[in-house]
Amino acid sequence: MAKEKSIYVCGECGASSPKWLGKCPGCGAWNTLVESVAEPAPGKNRFQALAKSQPVATLSEIEASEIAHQGTGIAELDRALGGGIVEGGVVLIGGDPGIGKSTLLLQALDALSRTMKTLYVTGEESGAQVALRSRRLGLEGSQVRVLAEIQLERILAALEAEAPAVCVIDSIQTLYSEQLASAPGSVAQVRECAAQLTRTAKASGTTVILVGHVTKEGALAGPRVLEHIVDTVLYFEGDTHSSFRLVRAVKNRFGAVNEIGVFAMTERGLKGVANPSAIFLSTHGEPVPGACVLVTLEGTRPMLVEIQALVDSGGPSPRRLSVGLDRDRLAMLLAVLHRHAGVAAFDQDVFVNAVGGVRISEPAADLAVLLAIQGSLRGRALPRGFFAFGEIGLAGEVRPAPRGQERLREAAKLGFSVAVVPSANVPKKPIEGLTIHAVDRVEQAISIVREL
Ligand code: TYD
Ligand code: MG
Repeated sequence: MAKEKSIYVCGECGASSPKWLGKCPGCGAWNTLVESVAEPAPGKNRFQALAKSQPVATLSEIEASEIAHQGTGIAELDRALGGGIVEGGVVLIGGDPGIGKSTLLLQALDALSRTMKTLYVTGEESGAQVALRSRRLGLEGSQVRVLAEIQLERILAALEAEAPAVCVIDSIQTLYSEQLASAPGSVAQVRECAAQLTRTAKASGTTVILVGHVTKEGALAGPRVLEHIVDTVLYFEGDTHSSFRLVRAVKNRFGAVNEIGVFAMTERGLKGVANPSAIFLSTHGEPVPGACVLVTLEGTRPMLVEIQALVDSGGPSPRRLSVGLDRDRLAMLLAVLHRHAGVAAFDQDVFVNAVGGVRISEPAADLAVLLAIQGSLRGRALPRGFFAFGEIGLAGEVRPAPRGQERLREAAKLGFSVAVVPSANVPKKPIEGLTIHAVDRVEQAISIVREL
């Protein structure tokens, strides 16, 4: 038998080279090439065989079959998955250590094990530790099959023998394939193991759920590599100090992305939060300067999140720090605030934070961030029951946010009473109990909140 050939693949751009190089020939990054197994080049006969089995067809003649989602028994997880798991689908679930990935998947597998065969492959914990966790979660008499193994070939053999409908691999970084010399967790190993498991999933119809750890840089190990291989990518977010956790879909071949599932970590595992709109508000007795409530839209659900800002006199090079919000966007907002509203913060340290460890990426947060900064600068609190949303442009204009009506209604439902929103988002019919101030420009918004 011919010896397995190695190639060297760039962890950044995926370019490959037959020998190791210090600098990637594709993207020019340094020290990113890692060993990987070369795919055998398909012979001419193989192409002919494939062509026969897969005839070219006209798109309109191909039957469009609906993808059947199988619910996991955990409603919030199903929401993030776009309805549930899919036969032969490969899901990657990433997140910081200790956030609750193993807990959630064990709970999901237990629920699934009532109707189908499930297998939990643990590379990080022993079988006894998994058993201990399951007792803690109150899963007595669980039918989940458990395998403590890190060698890929043995796992593949177990998959063939057990033929589960769903298999969890916890985690992909602990696996290694005999075919590669590099250590478990290296880009080459992660990539090869994930690729092999994906092939098995597609061939056998088993749903494979891979757990992946997030690196210090905030990317899943083997950046770009894993996300391309799998069908669905979920990220587990949240502050390990607070009990709330978000599961966010960032890629989904079988459903919508940006749907989120909301959970609370309790004594007995993760519990879904069916109505999460008010959990990211802090509980001040009196309104405080530097806080502004934002109505953000996560997937299909509006949520109220408190944005906090602290502006404090800085040194010669003042700092701009943000937690849960984009820092570049913060710098942009400070420039707009100065240029268009005459509010200067260039000699001040500016810190902003989204309460509860939630990460907000939508530009509709701009107006709330800006009003929080302005509030902290002036030392004046916004009135009780105040909220805002709207995108801000470099010219100082306030642009409408998508689905403004829904946001306004959700806030009104939770008892909020005063809003500053883009004029295009103002509803034709007034909303009961809500005073809405429409704005088109940043300076307008600033002068309105000064009067409140
Ligand atoms: P875990 O699922 O092990 O995290 P991950 O697999 O993402 O690394 O979660 C571990 C944390 O969750 C741990 O700090 C303890 C906490 N926890 C609870 O609060 N309640 C529980 O019922 C369980 C099982 C864990
Ligand atoms: Mg774990």
